[in-house]
Amino acid sequence: MGRAIKIFAPATVANIGPGFDVLGLALQNIGDEIEMQLNSEGGIKITMIGSEDLPTDPTKNVAGVALQAMLDQLGSTQGFEMTISKNVLPGSGLGSSASSSAGAVFAANELLNRPYTKTELIQFAMAGEASIAGKPHADNVAPSLLGGVTLVRSYTPLDVVNIGYPNDLFITVVHPQIEVKTADSKKILRKEIPLELAVAQWGNVAGLVSGFASSDFELIGRSLQDLIVEPIRSMLIPGFHELKASAIKNGALGCSISGSGPSVFALSNSLEIAQQIGEGFKTVFNRLEIDNHIHISKVNIEGAVIVK
Ligand code: HSE
Repeated sequence: MGRAIKIFAPATVANIGPGFDVLGLALQNIGDEIEMQLNSEGGIKITMIGSEDLPTDPTKNVAGVALQAMLDQLGSTQGFEMTISKNVLPGSGLGSSASSSAGAVFAANELLNRPYTKTELIQFAMAGEASIAGKPHADNVAPSLLGGVTLVRSYTPLDVVNIGYPNDLFITVVHPQIEVKTADSKKILRKEIPLELAVAQWGNVAGLVSGFASSDFELIGRSLQDLIVEPIRSMLIPGFHELKASAIKNGALGCSISGSGPSVFALSNSLEIAQQIGEGFKTVFNRLEIDNHIHISKVNIEGAVIVK
């Protein structure tokens, strides 16, 4: 056995509002831990902790698929063993699979003495996402690897950039204990959109990016509106409109669906407001008798890191 490391790859909110498949942010204190070591016997061996029903076959597990994509590109037959401790349930909308995909390639890259930059690792982590979502997207693996708020400017060629964000930006996330599979919530989306809706949406995306970069909370609030995806996916989330109304009443800048749901997030500019929003979210789900977890976080600046 070779050197062993332990890494942390954060959960994410991605998409952020109107930025379907292009805008995402990394969360603090929630994500996957992966212990990995080189294995001289070859092959990829996976052990799961915390989500034992996820596949350990490396061709079916997102972490295995992502790692294999990286090894294929390197032309390497190096073997790996990894133990993935999942702290985010699959199907939560918090980038659970993305944390595993991003974490696996980050850890392996470290063990192989960094043949790739973190930005270059995104393409491999995307292969993991594609294996379960049916279509590659980078809005969640990018912030999990890089940290901060990321924009996928283009998929072909892949062009991902970090954008600025206000230091006192808070994210309140509520995760109802129901599962929505990304592949299912992608399938229900319309494939074509009317031009006037597209105009409104890209105005909001540009406003959101500008608001983040210039720390303009009012602009962030005005722009955090998804007119295309949220109206459809919100049908899968019990109480969504009540949650949103409650967040706005409690002082949120805006509120939308995290990832492909069912988690819902709201942005605010103080811890106190973030906590009030959390209380409001809880009240709605408690009334609907749906178990739920609240997570309050600032933006995670580091992304994937070595823990030991
Ligand atoms: N951007 C993706 C979606 C994230 O909304 O479908 C889900 O993993």
